[in-house]
Amino acid sequence: MTRALAHPNIALVKYWGKQNKTGNMPATPNLSITLSELTAVTTINDSDRFRFQLNGQQVNDPKVSALIATMTDTFSLPPLQIDSTNNFPTSAGLASSAAGFAALVTGIDAHCHLGMDAALRSEWARRGSASAARSICGGFVALVPPDWQAQSLAPTNHWPLEVVVAVTSHDAKAVSSSEGMERSRLTSPFYNQWLRSAGDDYAEAALAIATRDFEKLATVAELSCLKMHSLMLTSSPTLSYWTPASVACMDRIRELRNHGEAVFFTVDAGPQIKAVCLPESRVTVAKALSEVPGVLEILSCSLGEGARIIDDEEPLTGR
Ligand code: DP6
Repeated sequence: MTRALAHPNIALVKYWGKQNKTGNMPATPNLSITLSELTAVTTINDSDRFRFQLNGQQVNDPKVSALIATMTDTFSLPPLQIDSTNNFPTSAGLASSAAGFAALVTGIDAHCHLGMDAALRSEWARRGSASAARSICGGFVALVPPDWQAQSLAPTNHWPLEVVVAVTSHDAKAVSSSEGMERSRLTSPFYNQWLRSAGDDYAEAALAIATRDFEKLATVAELSCLKMHSLMLTSSPTLSYWTPASVACMDRIRELRNHGEAVFFTVDAGPQIKAVCLPESRVTVAKALSEVPGVLEILSCSLGEGARIIDDEEPLTGR
């Protein structure tokens, strides 16, 4: 039995659109922070046939089955029973698939003695879900050409950012990220502009992180997020992942920043708002967002480490 743990990550420069090649490679460079307290834990056991359970339920996840089939062919894997458990809402814009695939590949690598390094695990995780490539690494993480294997830009202690997550719905999303980004690529009139500007956004964000320039990071991260949501909104049929409370939280975060709090928002393909802040602003931000009508729950995270093997005794949260 082997257990692996990975955390979700949150993109500050977004990935939304793939290259037209095999290997599930993003069309644009992207960059994320890995969170701590939220976890996916995957347990791998030998079995008589392939089985996959998510949060205790037997499920048929085509992406997991496809990745396992390719890994089985490539590495002659034996049949495995895979049990994955998240301690946070699944499929609701909290990067559950990112954490799940990073833990899955890390667990299979160790259980089957494949001897992969982090770059190779990142590549295999990317084949499952491109954002998962980033959850292999901790802290500040880049997913860039030519290899599209995630690289650490800086460790967690480089800049101890905090993330307050305002949960505004527990429902699973109606349109998956994979389907949504393909729809945007094919139909949004802004898609080519998105491709052209992503390199500059990436460079700006990487510089802001290197120099710990919060204002610069806030500006470029909110811009990248809103550009991605503009692609979604201008897709045909349109894609809208926000609830009224998501919009109210973004407005509240702008107000807080105007009043001197070090905070900015980012939102993925779901209704949850992630408020990225400096430690001194966290309590104020969490309180303000908890008071926004429609906010169901507040989660607080700091930056976390990459995917890793854990033993039976290890607590399932923390860095
Ligand atoms: C909005 O990584 O879930 O979270 O590669 O098709 O599985 P696939 O997509 P996925 O898309 C993530 C999109 C996003 C932005 C991001 O994480 O960069």
